[in-house]
Amino acid sequence: MTPHQTRLVRESFALVKPIATQAAALFYDKLFERDPTLMPMFRGDMAQQGARLMQMIEAAVALLGRPAQLDETLMRLGERHVGYGVMAAHYPTVGAALLDTLAAGLGDEFTAETREAWATLYSHVAETMLRGAMHAGAMAEA
Ligand code: HEM
Repeated sequence: MTPHQTRLVRESFALVKPIATQAAALFYDKLFERDPTLMPMFRGDMAQQGARLMQMIEAAVALLGRPAQLDETLMRLGERHVGYGVMAAHYPTVGAALLDTLAAGLGDEFTAETREAWATLYSHVAETMLRGAMHAGAMAEA
């Protein structure tokens, strides 16, 4: 990610934060619209789940300036996701739902450039999590 993309992600996330609860609820709507078979994987309380998601995005955004630490955190997160039944093919679906959510939450502020910055961040996050999953040696082929 370029420094400019990092700034775009940080600035747009700051706009989503005040509406984090609604954004999280919207995210799960978008996700299950795209793939209803994912629903049973999420057993926890949805509000709590949403809060976790926002926290993780916040942590990733905060760690953008420290890539080594970010990658280590993400690899461990990816390893844990194997245990949740997550497969490689699920990652693009979650990424698309995330971009849909940001588009709906940010409206005109979600410019093509900002979208590109988020897509770049998500690709990095997903690739690093998958690397962690592969490292664990337990990732099912999708
Ligand atoms: C790539 C970005 C993703 C991030 C940042 C992320 C983040 C998180 C976090 C922070 C947790 C809390 C538990 C923990 O820390 O281990 C979690 C749990 C979970 N995630 Fe993800 N996740 C991502 C992708 C996915 C994908 C692609 C799926 C597949 C549908 C998924 C499904 C789940 C499930 C099923 C749980 C556990 C829910 C439960 O126990 O009820 N996640 N995720």
